[in-house]
Amino acid sequence: MRRKLIAGNWKMNGSLGALAELDAIEAAATGTPGVDVAVAVPATLINPAVERVSAVAIGAQDVHQGECGAHTGCISAVMVREVGARFSIVGHSERRADQAESDAHVKGKAEAARAAGLSVILCVGESLEDRDAGRAEQVVTDQLARSLPQGAAGEWLSVAYEPIWAIGTGRTPTVEDVAAMHGALRARLRELAGGEADAIRLLYGGSVNDANAAALLGAGDVDGALVGGASLTAAKFVPIIEAAA
Ligand code: G3P
Repeated sequence: MRRKLIAGNWKMNGSLGALAELDAIEAAATGTPGVDVAVAVPATLINPAVERVSAVAIGAQDVHQGECGAHTGCISAVMVREVGARFSIVGHSERRADQAESDAHVKGKAEAARAAGLSVILCVGESLEDRDAGRAEQVVTDQLARSLPQGAAGEWLSVAYEPIWAIGTGRTPTVEDVAAMHGALRARLRELAGGEADAIRLLYGGSVNDANAAALLGAGDVDGALVGGASLTAAKFVPIIEAAA
């Protein structure tokens, strides 16, 4: 039985003062021992955040696929691990778009993160055009196949299904559509990684909030959520953690 994971993604938000939100999130994580709680913060906040909590896993939102070298402005998995990060998101659709990250880049990032001892949340998701054309499952499962790191098996890897058209929009797929996509992802993982694939957690992301969390988390093959806007304050994020308990 896979443990539930509720992960926040602060994106390019937060400050040293905003880390105070982690205090109530830490209390909620401590009070829901059956749920893993994680928050990905901007790289500048990783170490002060790690100093503040223990029940909440602090992570990065991206890592470079290399270990070091002439990559101005980039940060390696080894570097974020050294300052206390326990995981990294890779392949978020905003980075795939803004930074032209290919599936091969994402695969390399996931492998570098694993090699540095980090857990990984690997993001996949379709455009509204693909969804409306009825090709969402094929597009997303193919994206997963091309992005999946070598040796992909185990709780260290989570796959986050984030339909691009649901991110930051207040819109979500129906619970039935989420269950169908997660079922397709699970089937493709079993093809690619065999029985060990069943340890990989499947998270849903895209406009998760305190009102819809219980329904989305109750959909088939949903092991948790990756939450953006609603993770920025404890008042909005704690109810989502509690909905997973
Ligand atoms: O990584 C999670 C994020 O993309 C979802 O954003 O604001 O729709 O919860 P939001």
